Amino acid sequence: MKKTISGGLLILALATPAAAQTATVRVTVDTAKAGAVIDRHIYGQFAEHLGTGIYGGIWVGEDSKIPNIRGYRSDVVAALKKIHVPVVRWPGGCFADLYNWRDGIGPRAKRPTRINVHWGGVTDNNAFGTHEFMDFAELIGADPYVSMNVGSLSPYDSAQWVEYMTSSEDASLANERRANGRDKPWQLKYLGIGNETWGCGGNMSGEYSASINARYSTFVNAPVSMGMVKVASGGSGNIGDYKAFTEAMMKGGGRLQALSFHYYAMPDNGRSKGPATGFGEDRWREELALTMKMEGYLSDVSAIMDKYDPGKKVALYADEWGSWYTQEPGSHPGFLFQQNALRDAEVAALSLNIFHRHTDRVKLAAIAQMVNVLQAMILTDGPKMLLTPTYHVFDMYQPFMEATPLAASTSSPEYTKDVPMVDASVARGKDGKLWLALVNTDPNKPAHVVTNLAGTGKGQILTGPAMDTHNTFDKPDTIHPVAYKGGSAEGKAVFDLPPRSVVVVTVN
Ligand code: AHR
Repeated sequence: MKKTISGGLLILALATPAAAQTATVRVTVDTAKAGAVIDRHIYGQFAEHLGTGIYGGIWVGEDSKIPNIRGYRSDVVAALKKIHVPVVRWPGGCFADLYNWRDGIGPRAKRPTRINVHWGGVTDNNAFGTHEFMDFAELIGADPYVSMNVGSLSPYDSAQWVEYMTSSEDASLANERRANGRDKPWQLKYLGIGNETWGCGGNMSGEYSASINARYSTFVNAPVSMGMVKVASGGSGNIGDYKAFTEAMMKGGGRLQALSFHYYAMPDNGRSKGPATGFGEDRWREELALTMKMEGYLSDVSAIMDKYDPGKKVALYADEWGSWYTQEPGSHPGFLFQQNALRDAEVAALSLNIFHRHTDRVKLAAIAQMVNVLQAMILTDGPKMLLTPTYHVFDMYQPFMEATPLAASTSSPEYTKDVPMVDASVARGKDGKLWLALVNTDPNKPAHVVTNLAGTGKGQILTGPAMDTHNTFDKPDTIHPVAYKGGSAEGKAVFDLPPRSVVVVTVN
């Protein structure tokens, strides 16, 4: 028996019965040991002006032949409503730091056309602006998270944007908003103070970025009753010095309310990212190992935050995460359009499990991105739409929103270094039921999971015949969750997990 420590998990490698090739895994739950509630905002999504993420993916305009509600695709809206998206982050990303909010208000025909220099150099006619975003968030029932431009606009401009969105006074900006069709102020729940200030947001040092945060957050305010959270731009697992950056922000960023963190599971650090489908087991293994690194990053960042904020008043927001591969051949350069396969379902489930283990700090996360970009929830092609395996994981995991995580120790062989063959998350749902999520990361071997929980479990499973099983516009339902039932042995719940599977069950 080999013992290794991985991302805070104790992994005990047990002997695998060679004949059946089924590994036995034990999941022991301590129902008396509860963590901080899983904030539903960790199920958030990111929607940037990038490729067809907004135009075509969400917004088609009122005159489109594609069925729409006031310009928003009806099929996409219905799919997002079904999974109760808690928060949407917009307009970027890198896009945000060259965005002028004034371009996106007023009559659409009069709005200027700008070049999206970050993403493919294409034109953006600003048809989707502040009103369209805030109304979209309201339509799908999500909290809006607006990232302001601190890279190239002044604090004065940003303060005006926030006043425009949130003021109920009889004052010029609120009256301008009313003249543009919106009487009531919007409830602006989250305000991003820049994005990746260490990179596309201004190439700032940690110390400079901290001063910028303190300055902008002094001047940009919403009415106190709105309870708007200001989110400072933080480090990223994709840059070497994320610890120093975090330290600088915590030390000099002013009175922080939340600090962001980004991490993409990007193979070969972006040099040779590889395809989203049609890959071998080496790429499956690498991607899942990269995904598990999030656990260590969150622990490292949390430890630094603990030093400055032992009371855990400042939240950590993983507001960009997901897989990043080589974009699909033939797609527009810079559009970051990638397919989404069973491998991505595993990336999603493992990441959500990791967030469930860090609820003391992690109060919000946003997958990158919502539609047609990177690890998308939804893909569209003209009038066609499909739900990705990642979407299905978010759907299956809904009972974990606002659930209370319970301590669970997993004794599992490793599939590969630092990746347990079975990763588990257990929580008491808001519905009072016990929910269990199990991920079998091994693409070849089944696992037999033995728990200490009385009863049997039933729920749903997501799996497929190949590591890259995915939906296409012609066959949009190739992979979707199906009903799943566990068994019981000596009165305890047991589960047989096929290779490469994600299972969510309730046990009773
Ligand atoms: O999600 C794509 C890009 O990745 C975002 O614009 C940026 O913040 C990150 O580097």
